This record gives sequence, C-alpha cells and structure tokens, in this order.
Amino acid sequence: MTSLTLHKIPGEQAPMALLLEADPSIALIARYLQDGHCVVACLNDVVVGVYVIKALSADTWELMNIAVAPEHQGQGIGALLLHHAIDQARQLGAKRLELGTGSFGHQLTFYQRAGFRVVAVEPDYFLQHYPEPLFENGLQHRDRLRLALEL
Ligand SMILES: CC(C)(COP(=O)(O)OP(=O)(O)OC[C@H]1O[C@@H](n2cnc3c(N)ncnc32)[C@H](O)[C@@H]1OP(=O)(O)O)[C@@H](O)C(=O)NCCC(=O)NCCS
Repeated sequence: MTSLTLHKIPGEQAPMALLLEADPSIALIARYLQDGHCVVACLNDVVVGVYVIKALSADTWELMNIAVAPEHQGQGIGALLLHHAIDQARQLGAKRLELGTGSFGHQLTFYQRAGFRVVAVEPDYFLQHYPEPLFENGLQHRDRLRLALEL
C-alpha cells in the first residue's frame, strides 16, 4: 500500500535535483533555501515532491519553488503540495501568497485553478535573470507573470 506524507525539512537537506525541475538556477535556489520554509512529499519514504515558501514581509510570503518528480506528475501530488503551501503560509501569518511563473504553459493553469490571479508582468525577466534560454513546447519563456492569492 502506498502512502504519501509531507515533512518540513532544513534547507540544506532539500532535494536539489527536484528543485532544478522548476528553477534551473542553482544560485537562486541556494539563496532562497537559506531563509525558506521547505516541505517535501514522500511516497513510501522516497521524496517525490517539494515546495519552498519564504517571507517577503510580515504579511506577504512567496512560493519560491514547487516541483514533482516527472514520473509522479499528473497524479494530484502537485495540487496537494500547493494547497499545503497555501495553508502553511496562512498559519505562518501571511495575508497574501505571491509567486512568479512563465506567461504560458500548464503551470499557469495549475496556479489559477488554486485561485491565484495575475497581478503584474515582468517583461524580459527570463532573458535577464537566466544565462540559458528557457524553452517549453518549442516556445521561449521571456516574460514572467506575478501571481497572488489573498489568504
Ligand atoms: C507544476 C507541477 C508542480 C504540477 O505537479 P503535478 O503533480 O503534475 O500536478 P497535479 O497532478 O496536481 O495536477 C494539477 C493540474 O495541473 C495541470 N498539470 C499538471 N501537470 C501537467 C502537465 N504535465 N501537462 C498539462 N497539465 C498539467 C493539470 O491541469 C492538472 O489538472 P488535472 O487534475 O485536471 O489533470 C509539475 O508539473 C512540475 O513539477 N513541473 C515541473 C516544475 C515546474 O514547472 N514547477 C513550477 C514552476 S513555475
């Protein structure tokens, strides 16, 4: 019988390979792991998902990263982690949870289904902050959207 469990872990134990699925920058990941709140999802003691949230101010937190191992995607683990992140942020005193994501792709639907709304566009963000071009479905990511959920 399979069982999925969620655990808070210290940043230095975070599963880097999984975090890189969502954010190809080791430097940026290392920075937000220092003061982030990291939770992993384990299936029979194997880590299959992760998220990191971090305080931007007293009442605003950001979802810095969320990822599910490719072979376990599409089974509801991502949605479970996202709702857990929303609950954790609320419990930690947040009134608003923000995130940055690409301007197209299934991630956008994934967040909007949980209630996130687009609040800003950062033109050329991915060109300016990542050394390598980021492609998805043959299309280059250029602009980043800021999304927010009032808690
Ligand atoms: C985004 C991500 C975390 C979603 O995790 P997941 O476990 O696959 O998500 P779920 O199974 O809970 O799916 C929730 C919804 O997301 C959408 N979705 C998730 N993966 C999808 C995919 N590969 N293709 C299309 N839609 C997808 C679907 O709308 C799905 O709804 P459904 O239940 O009707 O199929 C996962 O795809 C992932 O790790 N991607 C790589 C890292 C990444 O891009 N992170 C986000 C950076 S902004």
